[in-house]
Amino acid sequence: MSKPIRLGIAGLGTVGAAVVKLLNERQQRLQAALPRRIQLVAVTARDRTKDRGVDLSGFEWVDDAVALAVSPDIDVFIELIGGETGTAYDAVEAALRSGKSVVTANKALLAHHGTELARLAEKSGAALKFEAAVAGGIPIIKALRESLWSSEIRRVYGILNGTCNYILPLMMTEGRAFDDVLAEAQAAGYAEADPTFDIGGFDAAHKLALLTSIAFGTEVAFDDIYVEGIENITPADIDAADELGYRIKLLGVALKTDAGIEQRVHPTMVPKHSAIAEVNGVTNCVAVDGDDVGAIMLVGPGAGAGPTASSVVSDIMDIARGDRTPAFVRPAADLVPQERARMRAHEGAYYIRMSVYDRPGAFAAIAGRMAEQEVSLESIVQRRAHRALPGIDAGRAPGELTNVVLITHPTTEAAIRKALEAIVADGHIVHKPQMIRIENL
Ligand code: HSE
Repeated sequence: MSKPIRLGIAGLGTVGAAVVKLLNERQQRLQAALPRRIQLVAVTARDRTKDRGVDLSGFEWVDDAVALAVSPDIDVFIELIGGETGTAYDAVEAALRSGKSVVTANKALLAHHGTELARLAEKSGAALKFEAAVAGGIPIIKALRESLWSSEIRRVYGILNGTCNYILPLMMTEGRAFDDVLAEAQAAGYAEADPTFDIGGFDAAHKLALLTSIAFGTEVAFDDIYVEGIENITPADIDAADELGYRIKLLGVALKTDAGIEQRVHPTMVPKHSAIAEVNGVTNCVAVDGDDVGAIMLVGPGAGAGPTASSVVSDIMDIARGDRTPAFVRPAADLVPQERARMRAHEGAYYIRMSVYDRPGAFAAIAGRMAEQEVSLESIVQRRAHRALPGIDAGRAPGELTNVVLITHPTTEAAIRKALEAIVADGHIVHKPQMIRIENL
C-alpha cells in the first residue's frame, strides 16, 4: 500500500469530534474500501482544554487554522469551523493555494465564494468537496455528481432546513406559537448559532445555491436567490392549508425555465398527501426531476453530528481514491453566469389570505381586481368572522371582519402582485394580504 493520506481537522465542535470518532472507530471498515490508508495527524480548535469526549492525545495540536491548512504534515484539510468569512475562508483559501485538498461542511462559505474557491482548487490540482454542506447525511451531492449526471435536470427542490421543518408541523399539530417552538429547536441544537439564518430561509438558500450550480452548470449565485422565511406564517395559515388539503413547508426550488434558472426559497403549500408533505421534523429531503431518470427523492437526517460526519468521511474517501473532479463537476471556467429568472415571471398557483371588512361589494371588488389581471380563482373560502380590533383602522368605524382565503389557478406572480396592490388600495381589507406559493408536485 502507498503512503497514507494525512488529514488535518480544523474545528472540533459536535461535527468535528464526530469525525475524529468515526475515523478512529471505523478505521478497518474504511481501509477495506481504499487503496491508501487515511490517517488523522493534526487538529486545531479555539479551546485546547475543552473535553470533547474524544481522545486527541495522538494528534498534533496546531494553534492556528491557517498554519494547519498549509502545514507540510497534512495532505487534506478538513474545515469544520463554519462562517462565510474570517478564519474558515482564510484557511480554506490557503489550503487550496498550497495544493491541499479540502473537505468542508461550510455551506455559507461556498454559497458566497464557491466559484472562486473551485477555480483555486483546479489551479493547484486539489479537490474541494462539500457533501456535508448540503442536507447533512443525505448523499445528494454525490448523487448529482455521479449517479444522476447523464440526466438533463429540470428541477431540484426540497426541504433543506431542519429547523423550519421542525417548527411548522408543531405549530399545526400542537397549535403552538412560532417563538415557543423556535426556542425548543434552539435548545435541541438544530438551529444555527444565529437562528435568523434558519427561519429567514438563508441556510436553505446557501444549500440551494450549491445544488443549482451542480445541477445546471451555473456559477454559484447565492445573491440571485429569492429568499422568504417562515416568520410570517401564522396558525391561521396552517389551519387553512390543512382544510384545503395542503401542508406548508419551507422549500428550496431551482427550476430551469425559458427565462433562466429560477432559484427560490419560500414557504410553500404542498399537497397533504404528497411524499414531501410527510417529511417532518429535522429530516430533510431533496428531490430531482430529470429527463430519463424521472423523479428521484432522497430523504434523511439534514443535520446532527453522526450524519454530517458520515458525509465528511465519504468525501475524504473519495479524495483517498484519487478523485479530483472539479468542485461543481464542470471546470470552473465552464460554469456559466447565472441567468436569473425574476420572481415576477414565476408561474404557479397561489394561496391568498385576507382580513376583509364584511360589507356589500367587498367580495365583488376583490374578485374584480383578480379578473382584471386575468387571475382565475379555483376556490374562495370565507372562514370564521371576528370583530375588528379597536384602532386597527383609524378613521373607519370598525366593522365585522372575515378571513377570506383564495386559491388561484396557475398564473404569473406579476399578475398576483398587481391584483393585490389594487385590492389593498381599494380599502376593503386590513393588514397586508398573506400570499403563499403552491408548488406543482
Ligand atoms: N440549521 C441547519 C438546519 C443545520 O436546521 O437544517 C444544518 O445545516
